[in-house]
Amino acid sequence: MNRERGPRLAGPSGSGATDPELAALQEILRLAEDDRRRGIRYWFDPDLAVALRDRVRGLSGESTAPRAMSLPPRRAPGRIAAAAAPAPARAAASVSAAAAPTDDARPGTSRPAWGLPADAVGRADDWRGQLAALGAEAAGCTACGLCETRQKVVFGTGSGVVPLVFVGEAPGHDEDMSGEPFVGRAGQLLTKIIEAIGLTREQVYICNVLKCRPPENRNPLPDEIASCRHFLESQLELLRPKVICTLGLFAAQLLLDSALPIGKLRGRLNTEGRWPILPTFHPAYLLRNPSAKAAVWEDVQLVRRILDGGEILG
Ligand code: URA
Repeated sequence: MNRERGPRLAGPSGSGATDPELAALQEILRLAEDDRRRGIRYWFDPDLAVALRDRVRGLSGESTAPRAMSLPPRRAPGRIAAAAAPAPARAAASVSAAAAPTDDARPGTSRPAWGLPADAVGRADDWRGQLAALGAEAAGCTACGLCETRQKVVFGTGSGVVPLVFVGEAPGHDEDMSGEPFVGRAGQLLTKIIEAIGLTREQVYICNVLKCRPPENRNPLPDEIASCRHFLESQLELLRPKVICTLGLFAAQLLLDSALPIGKLRGRLNTEGRWPILPTFHPAYLLRNPSAKAAVWEDVQLVRRILDGGEILG
């Protein structure tokens, strides 16, 4: 690109003229690309990067049709990055069937997203407070019968500084006693899985479809899921993850509005809804079927690449 002050505009917006906005935007793109080539990771917002790229193209009179480039590409409906085998048809996302918000509509995006820590990107300034208030509301919830048998409400844990959310099924005995998700045997395995991609459980956010333990660890019932899902949806809305990794059948089916079995959903990144969703097997399943660990390893590698900024196809 032209690195001298004020590039010349080739297009309709001003043949031969210089444009400070174009120059500034091109410089941002150039710096970001340089850093990415040098392996410096940004937790930037792919939507913002796409908006920036489109603005540069518009100003310089280029077509805004997609083309190959190394910035994080647009999150577009219908494109999937498969962690393993090629993806067959999958269900559309539903919890968040609403269109992705524009940058203008996003709280907190008046600040530049480039290079900022994850918790400064795209989240409301007071998202932590709102999450705490939501947790307090859940702690008093009596919307379904599980409130009669639970010991503690298990709302969620983690600082969320890395924009990755794991969503499991429901608390078990250990979680019911402690009030924290994934602290039993399955939880210890989840902790190792998180550490395998260079993160800690304190950095991410971990929660469940149900916030209260079903008696005898039975499967969640449809009316329990229906009563509880607004908590999960609100958590995700506040956390605004770059990717959600669902653990097991119930979280995947709920967030993808699918009836497909986990074997069909797992490993396929779904970008059709509000947030990219990557289903994988539940750690409890891995305890019973250790050979499935290889598949989960592939899945979380894809999660890592998404967090690193370039694996959502556009
Ligand atoms: N299994 C889950 O799905 N969630 C937990 O929190 C613990 C075990």
